[in-house]
Amino acid sequence: MTNYTISDKSVLSQKVDSYAFLVHEGALKEVEKEIEKSLYPHLSEFLKEKKFTGEKGQTCTVVCMVGKKVVHLFFVGLGKKSEKHKALESFRSACALVVRLCQSNKILSIAYALPAAKDLGISEEKMGEVFVSLSEMAHYKFDLYLTKKEDKTVILKEIIGVVDSADVKAVKAGVVEGEQIAQAVNRVRLWVDLPANVMSPHEFSKRTKQLGKEFGLEVTVFEEDEIAEMGMGGLKAVGMGSQHDSHLVIMKYTCKKKNAPTIALVGKGITFDSGGLNIKPTGYMETMKEDMSGAAAVINALTVIAQRKPDVNVVAVAALAENMVSGASNHPGDIITFYNGKTAVVGNTDAEGRLVLADALAYADKNFKPVAMIDVATLTGACSHAVGPFFSGMLTQDEHLAKKIEAAAYSSGDAVWRLPLIDEYKVMVKSDLADLCNDGKTKYYAGATNGACFLSNFVGETPWVHLDIAPSAFDVPDKPYFRPNSATGVATRLLVDFVMNWK
Ligand code: BES
Ligand code: MG
Ligand code: ZN
Repeated sequence: MTNYTISDKSVLSQKVDSYAFLVHEGALKEVEKEIEKSLYPHLSEFLKEKKFTGEKGQTCTVVCMVGKKVVHLFFVGLGKKSEKHKALESFRSACALVVRLCQSNKILSIAYALPAAKDLGISEEKMGEVFVSLSEMAHYKFDLYLTKKEDKTVILKEIIGVVDSADVKAVKAGVVEGEQIAQAVNRVRLWVDLPANVMSPHEFSKRTKQLGKEFGLEVTVFEEDEIAEMGMGGLKAVGMGSQHDSHLVIMKYTCKKKNAPTIALVGKGITFDSGGLNIKPTGYMETMKEDMSGAAAVINALTVIAQRKPDVNVVAVAALAENMVSGASNHPGDIITFYNGKTAVVGNTDAEGRLVLADALAYADKNFKPVAMIDVATLTGACSHAVGPFFSGMLTQDEHLAKKIEAAAYSSGDAVWRLPLIDEYKVMVKSDLADLCNDGKTKYYAGATNGACFLSNFVGETPWVHLDIAPSAFDVPDKPYFRPNSATGVATRLLVDFVMNWK
């Protein structure tokens, strides 16, 4: 891993291969003066020629000689200083761009001045956390199966963040948190990127147990016969067509405080979604290893929570199955009974996420009596059409939780956009043959809402939020800390932020 150093010595005095400068639009003059004095006399002409103004996301590379040494200077635009609400995300992108510029120029050590935390609207500690977590997220590449060394991701040796001497201590505390977060986010990305021939429900459970040992978390795995015995007809039905057994995995963080409340995090863990007998067409199935992204997020968020030790209990529940086509598959028209006794017609075997989540939510609700429940799921293509890749859909009827999740989304970078969930829409998932149907009537069109309406039948009276991460879990374009055709680890940062700010 890269070594992160926080220093109060000037940027240009640092012993590194290269320097970066994060500049606001129209604020080049100050930086230029300093560099022109000591390193590169014609900087302002050069930047002008290259039309570098400090616009958000703009970059410019200057190479100069200092004695016999080649030194790279990277300029990264932060956008307008007056646009305060965009400052935090601009900083996230800038941290990632610095890493990308180093990687493409084969630079292994770099120093740059970090912005003042108050300009980002956050604490110094949080600024340190963002600096490290985004630098680490930018390093992630799914290169496990690339056998040529030159195709592997380039890992920087050292990144030095320069801050005011008064802030060193606080920023350093943030560095540790950033490393924890990034490790979890990048592990989620790895689990999601691992193809379905590797990441089976069994493999997922095995890795969860290993994490349990590493981080001191209690892990329970219910296997297929136990799932059937407990009456989890949804989880059982979805996995029937697969060679792999379905699992329900429970991971628990128990805090020191007596009688503390419990938060339940529930994740959809379909290790491959072929659609089942309602098989997906070509063009829709290829990336469906991503369908366990929610489960990976809830489990890995707990590893960070275990290190931070908040005064609240947290349980993660992952519903794992593979949705396949075979003579044993569940059929369209099958009627199943869930853990809480409710029944549903399987109108469409490709709406399997809500079937496995129904049992997982009902189980979490009954056995842990949580004060809040959040489920995370790549549930509907419709959600992607509604909000696009930079958001996850948030559906809830609890205003208090909605505010908390929105705050966690903004502060963590896992953006959400609220979509409607009201009682009047719940008629969409009613059926004449059973209590519910899983495909829902399409008369109101709203597909993401339809999914949430189904799930609302399994949470009892517990305050609950559904996060539909189908848009944001995989192949998100134009962000320097993500990669094409690869997982994002979305919701992991949000869940940690949400739990750490619980009171
Ligand atoms: N796994 C898909 C949703 C999905 C789509 C995730 C694209 C990520 C990217 C889910 O199981 C599914 O197939 N949903 C159906 C529901 C429909 C049959 C009611 C959909 O969105 O079409
Ligand atoms: Mg099976
Ligand atoms: Zn599906």
